[in-house]
Amino acid sequence: MTEPYYSDDLVTLYHGDCREITEWLEADVLVTDPPYGVGWESRHGDNRGPRARRGRTSNAVAGDDSPEARDGALVEWAGRPAVVFGSWRIPRPAPLRALLIWNKDGAYSAMCRSAFFTVHEEIYVLGDGFPMEGKPMRSVITTTEHRSQHTAAIGHPTPKPVDLMARLIDRCPPGVIADPFAGSGSTLVAAKRLGRKAIGVELDERYCEIAARRLAQGVLDFGGFA
Ligand SMILES: C[S@@+](CC[C@H](N)C(=O)[O-])C[C@H]1O[C@@H](n2cnc3c(N)ncnc32)[C@H](O)[C@@H]1O
Repeated sequence: MTEPYYSDDLVTLYHGDCREITEWLEADVLVTDPPYGVGWESRHGDNRGPRARRGRTSNAVAGDDSPEARDGALVEWAGRPAVVFGSWRIPRPAPLRALLIWNKDGAYSAMCRSAFFTVHEEIYVLGDGFPMEGKPMRSVITTTEHRSQHTAAIGHPTPKPVDLMARLIDRCPPGVIADPFAGSGSTLVAAKRLGRKAIGVELDERYCEIAARRLAQGVLDFGGFA
């Protein structure tokens, strides 16, 4: 039995590799933002302007050089209900129940080195049991995005807005939420905000520390990204 890095009444966070720490597999719904497998590297390592960014060290996400992390976790999850972030640059997982688009309104194009500036990410809905009550969720979810500010404020290169995670979790089947790629803990904070139990795993201790701090802050954790 692994000792949690952080725990409270609702959330347990483990520090380590989710291929070795298996407690998250006991949860009921997977809501995760894994390394996308696209070799992503941040151009927003900090928020101190272009001068400070020059010469910064790499801010890559661990495991992002291939889709292995995502695909391995999905194999372990074995077809149960899941909401998983991803990029159109690598093949989608299957079979898809729904494809959602996270539209990042306000994304800043100054750093774009292509004729086409991607302002969305994909969200895959997999498995069964998503409740049908109420108005159906629209497939395009828009948030206001100021990436460099949020990255600097949170201290993780790819934080997801807590509001976005809460909207997704709210649509999930009942039960405990699993996030084996917890990062700065946005999924766990959102689950806690909704009064749902959650289990997270994060490889990088720096991000565990950030997640634990955000979780301990509880309701004081404010703003879309906080
Ligand atoms: C895309 S980020 C998640 C960001 C998170 N949604 C947030 O809002 O901060 C993916 C995270 O997975 C972590 N990671 C990569 N491989 C892992 C593994 N094998 N086990 C646990 N965590 C892993 C990385 O360190 C990174 O923080």
